[in-house]
Amino acid sequence: MAELKYISGFGNECTSEDPRCPGSLPEGQNNPQVCPYNLYAEQLSGSAFTCPRSTNKRSWLYRILPSVTHKPFESIDQGHLTSNWDEIEPDPNQLRWKPFEIPKASQKKVDFVRGLHTLCGAGDIRSNNGLAVHIFLCNSSMENKCFYNSDGDFLIVPQKGKLLIYTEFGKILVQPNEICVIQRGMRFSIDVFEETRGYILEVYGVHFELPDLGPIGANGLANPRDFLIPVAWYEDRQVPGGYTVINKYQGKLFAAKQDVSPFNVVAWHGNYTPYKYNLDNFMVINAVAFDHADPSIFTVLTAKSMRPGVAIADFVIFPPRWGVADKTFRPPYYHRNCMSEFMGLIKGHYEAKPGGFLPGGGSLHSAMTPHGPDADCFEKASKAKLEPERIADGTMAFMFESSLSLAVTKWGLKASSCLDENYYKCWEPLKSHFTPNSKKPAGP
Ligand SMILES: [Fe+2]
Repeated sequence: MAELKYISGFGNECTSEDPRCPGSLPEGQNNPQVCPYNLYAEQLSGSAFTCPRSTNKRSWLYRILPSVTHKPFESIDQGHLTSNWDEIEPDPNQLRWKPFEIPKASQKKVDFVRGLHTLCGAGDIRSNNGLAVHIFLCNSSMENKCFYNSDGDFLIVPQKGKLLIYTEFGKILVQPNEICVIQRGMRFSIDVFEETRGYILEVYGVHFELPDLGPIGANGLANPRDFLIPVAWYEDRQVPGGYTVINKYQGKLFAAKQDVSPFNVVAWHGNYTPYKYNLDNFMVINAVAFDHADPSIFTVLTAKSMRPGVAIADFVIFPPRWGVADKTFRPPYYHRNCMSEFMGLIKGHYEAKPGGFLPGGGSLHSAMTPHGPDADCFEKASKAKLEPERIADGTMAFMFESSLSLAVTKWGLKASSCLDENYYKCWEPLKSHFTPNSKKPAGP
């Protein structure tokens, strides 16, 4: 496959033409009486028309046929995809999942859409407020099939296997350690090349933004120019009656047939596009004297709620970095958080729990549920010589952190068969070191 080209910059106003049709973007207007190359003009709105400029999002697509040329949508089986947060009783326990099992291609072909499994979530799709965490487990490409989500944006975190994503804006190749955001309404189809697994953070009714940097200044964390947007690419492919468009609408799946590939956009312009980002480009900020900065310094993208400073969900990563803090317990401290924390591991070993939390698995620490390093980590880090050290080399853990209190699905707790029933035991060996008659640390 020839190397794909991208446009650089987060949220930019972009223009792109498939090089096979130079001049396909109308000049000086969006909606000419007849478009160049006799294309149809179609606007995709990602925000209310009247949003302030800073949050106003839309793109104009110039395509061979408009998206409306399809047969009626009909309800289809939605497998393990759900937005019903009342499937099972609430469970405040610390939860940890072993790596989610990918179906074997030799036994059953499963594509990206069929492989979507909802793990947890909260909120309400119809009022555009909430989120879901999905796990995708697939082994086959989507053949003559595309998907679009009427409910929200997908932040896709591949963990095993790369994704070649065809979108109306062009093609994107996303490998593990990269992420991709496909925003609400954008049609896409995913090719996979092996048994493939990953995580999805879906947010309803809001879009991801770069976090404000405050005293950090103008640069740092995820820099805008490292976000990559595809370039226009079209196929004029007839599939008489045989192309399926799948729509997630109010949490349910629907399918409609059409005669042509939906990837028939010859040119586009606008600021509402899919994009990808390589996590290696994250510029890490950290404590260089003592103690820990709050983990918000690791925020890549945030989906803000209406309350200032409070996110529907943050996407946070724990990249390779130096640990240099003096007189400090360096692993994450014990804590209870008003936010809900779902964690996943793309590769390597997470420092607070070197065993048990594995690539392709996950954990959920719900609102106010205590958690922190396991006993072994505590003992080692309390005695460790505090020299500058590399942390998390070869590792990429991430967190979806939400202000909402998340419900776990029936698949998450039961059907996945991946729940680690022994998770709580990692803290059982923690023992009291209290020395009531001596302030000094116990000596060697
Ligand atoms: Fe935590």
